[in-house]
Amino acid sequence: MSIISKDISKAVALLNAEEVVAIPTETVYGLAGNIYSEKAIKSIFETKKRPFFNPLIVHIPSVDYLDIIVDYVPEKAKLLAEAFWPGPITLVLKKKNTIPDLITAGKDTVAVRVPNHSVSLALLRQLDFPLAAPSANPFSSISPTTAQHVETYFKDAIKMVLDGGSCKSGIESTIIGFENDEPIIYRLGSTAIEDIEAVVGKIEIKNKEEIAPDAPGMLERHYAPKTKTVLTNTILETLRLYKNKRVGLITFQSEIDNTNIEVQIALSKSGDLAESASNLYDVLHQLDLMHLDVIIAEKFPDYGLGKSINDRLERATK
Ligand code: TXA
Ligand code: MG
Repeated sequence: MSIISKDISKAVALLNAEEVVAIPTETVYGLAGNIYSEKAIKSIFETKKRPFFNPLIVHIPSVDYLDIIVDYVPEKAKLLAEAFWPGPITLVLKKKNTIPDLITAGKDTVAVRVPNHSVSLALLRQLDFPLAAPSANPFSSISPTTAQHVETYFKDAIKMVLDGGSCKSGIESTIIGFENDEPIIYRLGSTAIEDIEAVVGKIEIKNKEEIAPDAPGMLERHYAPKTKTVLTNTILETLRLYKNKRVGLITFQSEIDNTNIEVQIALSKSGDLAESASNLYDVLHQLDLMHLDVIIAEKFPDYGLGKSINDRLERATK
């Protein structure tokens, strides 16, 4: 029997019983549990095979709940919360003592966001506790953007996937930390850097080597298909390198006329970066199931959500 269901009250009952439930958000599906339940949180880590040093994101139903999670909110964090919540921005802030160390991997900061999805918001409002939820995929594989993706990954290991349809944004939230009250990007994501800068001014992206211990989402091999993946600016040249191989091609807009391609998918025929981001993981999931020799992906324009798409594609090649 399928574990996929639209029944919010069933999800509430399971979560109240300290079980883990996969939930939809606007970015990707999350594997959710009561932040105050050691049993639920341990089960999240075990199910994902995620190392305990990698902290989780706490999901709250509105900005009003921020005070029960964090001790201190810098001015620019307030501006960002006001501008983007509910939405795909995660703020890393100084945690309250009441937040269990298991959630934050012993750090004195906690990652928190308000998801922009009617189903997860309705669920959060019916619970007496916030939900910790990492993406609902095994550690380092592609994040799920449909309930079916989650079921394929975890079938017997979890009791329920709450179905909220396909995730609209399609890549994870943008994570922002603070150093001396100034924001800094820890992970590129579904909120474009230009939109963030319009609210708080110029913002740096913390470099990968520096950030790895702080945000393992920044670990090099992450979001990766099992199939060898190559990212290129020069598709035709790269295709020549894989002559007589079974090739899957991902492009931004255009289709390539070349007999050497077994399957090709343009992420947005109209050239829309948001639509491309929304389709990216589902296309990677599909191609990964085809037992191709190689997935070749075209580099995206390096601005807006194109930057975040390139970030994920680069990691997929590791
Ligand atoms: O869109 C999203 O953010 C999705 C949905 C489900 O909300 N969640 C998600 O969670 O992508 P996850 O666990 O796959 O990625 C969370 C990232 C990890 O890279 C983790 O290291 C980082 O957030 N993180 C969590 N707490 C942190 C902290 N206190 N300091 C720095 N990074 C932190
Ligand atoms: Mg993840």
